[in-house]
Amino acid sequence: MTHTSRVAFLNASASGIGRATAIMLARHGFDLFLADIDEDGLNRTAEETGTHGATVEKAVADATEENDVERCVRHAMAAFGRIDALACVAGGAGGVPMHQVDDIPLDHWEKIISLNLNSVFLACRHVVPVMRDQKYGRIVCISSTVAKGRLGPVGTMGARLPYATAKAGLIGFTKQLAKDVGEHGITVNTVLPWLTFGDPGSKIRESFESQSDEYKTRTLANSPQKRPVTAAGVAATLCFLLSEEAEYVSGTSVPVDGAYLN
Ligand SMILES: NC(=O)c1ccc[n+]([C@@H]2O[C@H](COP(=O)([O-])OP(=O)(O)OC[C@H]3O[C@@H](n4cnc5c(N)ncnc54)[C@H](O)[C@@H]3O)[C@@H](O)[C@H]2O)c1
Repeated sequence: MTHTSRVAFLNASASGIGRATAIMLARHGFDLFLADIDEDGLNRTAEETGTHGATVEKAVADATEENDVERCVRHAMAAFGRIDALACVAGGAGGVPMHQVDDIPLDHWEKIISLNLNSVFLACRHVVPVMRDQKYGRIVCISSTVAKGRLGPVGTMGARLPYATAKAGLIGFTKQLAKDVGEHGITVNTVLPWLTFGDPGSKIRESFESQSDEYKTRTLANSPQKRPVTAAGVAATLCFLLSEEAEYVSGTSVPVDGAYLN
C-alpha cells in the first residue's frame, strides 16, 4: 500500500469495524479525520491511531445530519486540505427486535433507512466535490450479507427488514455513483460483511453473546469457517479498496463472508 500522506475520513470510528479500519489505515500511513456520535469511543480511537503515527482530527457528529456532515468536511479540509479516502461506516439495525413487517413503525423504518442509506448519501454529497477537484478519491460503503435476506429470528439485527432494504440499496448506490464519478479518478465500492466481531465489549459482539445458545450454535453452523469475521478482517478489505493501488476496482460489492453467500 502506498503511503504518501493520504487523508482518510471515517463517518463512524468509535468502535467495531470503524475503529479497526482507522487503526489499520493509521498503520498504513494515512492521516485521519474521525467522526462518531460516541465521544468517549471517538477519543479512544483517536488516541490509539495517534500512537501509530497518524495526524488525527476528530469531531462528534451525527452522520445522518447534513449540518454535522458539512461541518466535518469543512474541519477536515481546514486541517488537511484534502480528503483521499472516504469510509462510510455508520449503520446498524437498532437494538429493538422487530420481526414482521407490521411490527415496524414508520418512524423506526425511516430511522434505520436514514442511518444506513442517508448517511452514505450525505457523506458522498459533501466529499465527492472535494475528490472531483483533486481528480482522485476512494470511497467505500459497508453493506451486509443481509442485503440478500436471511431466514430465522432477527438475532443481532433489531429491525432486519429496513436494515436489509437499506443495505441492498447501497449496492445500487455504489454501482451508480461509481459510473457517475469514474471520469474524475474516483472509485466507489461496497463490502458485504457477515457477522463481525469488534473488540470485546463492542455492540454486535455483546449482542451476539447475549443470544440463546441454540441461536448462537445454529448461526455459526451456517458459516463455512464456523466463526464470525473479525473487525480487522473487514478493515483489511476496506483498506485495500481505499488504497491507491485499487485503481481499477470500482462499482463492486465485495463479500467478506467466508463463502457464506456463495
Ligand atoms: N458487525 C456486524 O456484524 C456487521 C455486519 C455487516 C455490516 N455491518 C455494518 O458495519 C458498520 C459498522 O458496524 P459495527 O458492527 O462496527 O457496529 P458498532 O456498533 O460496533 O459501530 C458502529 C459505530 O457507529 C456509530 N454511530 C451510530 N450511529 C451513528 C450516527 N448517526 N452518526 C455517527 N456515528 C454513528 C456508533 O457510535 C459506533 O461507533 C455498520 O454500517 C453496520 O451496519 C456490521
